[in-house]
Amino acid sequence: MDKFVVRGGNPLLGTVRISGAKNAALPAMAAAILTEEPVILENIPQVRDIETERRLLSAMGAEVELGYGRAQHRTIICCRHLSRPEAGYDLVKTMRASTLVLGPLVARTGSARVSIPGGCAIGARPIDLHIKGLERLGATIRQEHGYIEARAERLKGNSITFDRITVTGTEDILMAAVLAEGETVMENCAREPEVVDLAALLVKMGADLEGAGTSTIRVRGVDRLHGARHRIIPDRIEAATFIIAGALTGGDLLVTNLVPAHQTALLAKLEQAGARFHVNGESIRVMGDNPLRAADIATEEYPGFATDVQAQYMALATQAEGTSIITENIFENRFMHALELVRMGANIKIEGNRAVVRGKSPLSGAVVLASDLRASASLVLAALVADGETIIDRVYHIDRGYEHLEEKLRAIGAQIRRIGEMLPRRAGA
Ligand code: EPU
Repeated sequence: MDKFVVRGGNPLLGTVRISGAKNAALPAMAAAILTEEPVILENIPQVRDIETERRLLSAMGAEVELGYGRAQHRTIICCRHLSRPEAGYDLVKTMRASTLVLGPLVARTGSARVSIPGGCAIGARPIDLHIKGLERLGATIRQEHGYIEARAERLKGNSITFDRITVTGTEDILMAAVLAEGETVMENCAREPEVVDLAALLVKMGADLEGAGTSTIRVRGVDRLHGARHRIIPDRIEAATFIIAGALTGGDLLVTNLVPAHQTALLAKLEQAGARFHVNGESIRVMGDNPLRAADIATEEYPGFATDVQAQYMALATQAEGTSIITENIFENRFMHALELVRMGANIKIEGNRAVVRGKSPLSGAVVLASDLRASASLVLAALVADGETIIDRVYHIDRGYEHLEEKLRAIGAQIRRIGEMLPRRAGA
């Protein structure tokens, strides 16, 4: 297993370009299931979850061509033949977003068999709302041997109100509804930019829908969809991670190729915390020349403060003067990074879904363990301001969702390198 070795102390200076959004690319790839024609996706990030989805679609019989050379961020997916409409345990256990194929598979082929994902480092994360939504569209669902089997001759439009806001649940049901017979009205939908991006792709494929980005989405089902070409939106979580890194390290960083409107909640908080910004077109310059002050955050669905940025913000809060209260409202167990930050010298107390961070604490390098994607990013950020060397173990979590993180950080002045695990020598070898 690879590790990162980070030596702290350097401010981040220069320009960093944001990649395509993993969480928009994954549903877009699943949407290709809805048509026999090729779907061309651009700005696909080169991260491990994308490779997992490629394997998932290939195992069903899809042709998936990942670009190389100058076209390295382009993917062409053709789901003409889907001989095995199934998502097996081996892939689902490594990536929960595999369940995004459930809706499109039933809609297109009339049947789907998808392994039920187990628990996760950040919470229980059930998929009951995906299942309820499909049942409302007329699918028959059976659960046995750890799998969900969904069947329907043809899905039928209906009204669906999500009991709570779910991002991939909204995407899954939206993909099912576009090929259902008649009208579907979805209420209490997720309003995340990734849902809007998926809807934009579906419209290019011939879907008839409106309201994506609001809590009510109306869909008039069509008989078939066709191929399309679509460019994935920039990754707002990667962008937020670099913006925080710039402010935290006292740097002067230009973060380019992002959508500033996606950063509204973060920028408001960072401004309160004393960082300075300059927004210009598709870039944000962050200047960390002021001392940081404590500011409370509470995670919410979009457009609120993203749960996927909570861990990175906590690293910053350890370096802010005063007490920051961080409330996690989306997932029940998303504070694993706090314990590792404490090992580096942070003063953090967990009280239920609140973390009380008292700053400013000097951090010192230590060996720390990454528990999930965003927790790992938080540890990298802390390491950038820690005294001495930090070794971050299990960086495969980072590789799932950050494209070339260490190269990007090195280019703006960070001292970070990747080391592979030394294999033990065999006796006598
Ligand atoms: N929930 C249910 N039942 C369901 C679905 C969700 O109770 O059927 C609950 C979840 O347990 C959670 C809450 O609803 O407490 C919200 O979960 P949601 O379904 O919105 O999460 P998700 O769709 O599984 C996506 C992102 C996550 C991100 C969350 C929240 C993708 C592929 N994943 O997950 O991203 O944290 O939305 O914004 O889009 C990451 O990138 O690191 C990541 C974890």
